[in-house]
Amino acid sequence: MTDRPFSHKSSRPRAAIILAAGKSTRMKSSKSKVLHDLAGLRLIEWVRTCALEAGCERIICVVGDANQDVRDAAEALSMEIAVQEPQQGTGHAVDCAKDAVGDFEGDIAVLFADTPLITTQTLNSVFEALTEADVAVLGFEANVPGAYGRLIERDGTLEKIVEAKEASAEELAVTLCNSGVLASQSGRLFKALEQVTNENSKGEYYLTDVIEIMRKDGGCARVVRGHEDEMLGVNSRADLAAANASFQTNMRNMALEDGVTLRHPETVYFSYDTVIERDAVIGENVVFGPGVIVKSGATIHAFCHIEGATVGEGASVGPFARLRPGTDLGPDSFIGNFVEVKNTKVGRGSKASHLTYLGDAVIGAGSNIGAGTVTCNYDGFFKHKTTIGDGVFIGTHTSLVAPVTIGDGGFTATGAVVTKNVPADALAIARVDQVNKLGWAARFREAMSKRKAKS
Ligand code: UD1
Ligand code: CA
Repeated sequence: MTDRPFSHKSSRPRAAIILAAGKSTRMKSSKSKVLHDLAGLRLIEWVRTCALEAGCERIICVVGDANQDVRDAAEALSMEIAVQEPQQGTGHAVDCAKDAVGDFEGDIAVLFADTPLITTQTLNSVFEALTEADVAVLGFEANVPGAYGRLIERDGTLEKIVEAKEASAEELAVTLCNSGVLASQSGRLFKALEQVTNENSKGEYYLTDVIEIMRKDGGCARVVRGHEDEMLGVNSRADLAAANASFQTNMRNMALEDGVTLRHPETVYFSYDTVIERDAVIGENVVFGPGVIVKSGATIHAFCHIEGATVGEGASVGPFARLRPGTDLGPDSFIGNFVEVKNTKVGRGSKASHLTYLGDAVIGAGSNIGAGTVTCNYDGFFKHKTTIGDGVFIGTHTSLVAPVTIGDGGFTATGAVVTKNVPADALAIARVDQVNKLGWAARFREAMSKRKAKS
């Protein structure tokens, strides 16, 4: 097409304006809604990540005066800030970013901070649609169109967006809805916004009005279709739960497709960044917090809670194990029931089978940690390191009072309280010697029975 007012190159720079100035009353929270966590990442971070991955070199977050916490978070995430005060609608919100956008001449996508599940691929297709159109809108077929804006198409292009409150009965029957995501070339977007008025039932400046304005100006508008699951907006705790459910279903399906066994998929919970390699087996009721990598052939048995941990090839974890941040389990290692591991490296084939706490430790290969062993890593002020070599045998119920080192091949006797380093191949016995008092128990019972009879 040569008659359109603007020509587009796919290589144009990209930017995003993330709207986050709205109030979040329905969340019933002292914290702004876009700072609530969804699978290990705050809502606003989901949207920011999507924009970054789609190649946006500028990200401007629009906040209200009341959302100081959002502003702080956005600044900490290196986003640029624009303030919208008071909030007079989505069109007004975008216009408030105009000064921040300045002379940026590329394509801009408008995203909502409370719509976290839109994928990078989807956002890319919205930007890419700008090679054929002046403005692109992400739409979806809604199961329940409800309060969504309706996308009115004619001859394969988008004619206008009608907010549900302004729609005729005929328009309300349309099921193709507006996700809120819209992209256009920067100058054109702000030019159209100048013509948006607040003459509507809400008395707000609707961003959606730019479609009709651009079309009247000879511009071409297109709808990019996405899946409803991605468009879910979070307004309440119930919405947050629904978004999480949708994310979890997706992750489970992807894991199964990638060759991971999930014994009961509906009971396994993932984080945004969970990586599980093929032929890993995940048991029932397992929770993955952020930062987990489970390598090929590893097994996570039922009821484990794992975050910030790498589980090596062929390793076995649980049932009922807790792996905390900084855990690095070597290949074929074994962490059994009621074992907690934190900031600890476990070497190839080493085992801690039962009832143990390993914190701030490094354990070599082929070592065995007896039941009930505890690394005493904290003195109330500082954390200290425990170093255990290769082929070490830690006897049952050993307390390893850090900082302490057990040399290769060393042994500790059952019940040892180890406060000094143990040389390689040595046995450390650190407990009170046993004394057997012959006949004592029988005498004790007799004395007690007599006393009871008198009373
Ligand atoms: C908007 C769309 C609607 C679409 C729906 C999808 C408009 C006019 N309507 O409606 O077509 O189907 O989203 O969910 O755009 N915000 C501000 N400042 C404001 C108003 C809103 O920053 O003054 C932010 C909110 O924080 C939120 C987003 O913009 O992140 C959407 O605002 P909201 O009021 O929820 O728009 P809807 O009425 O749902
Ligand atoms: Ca909304």
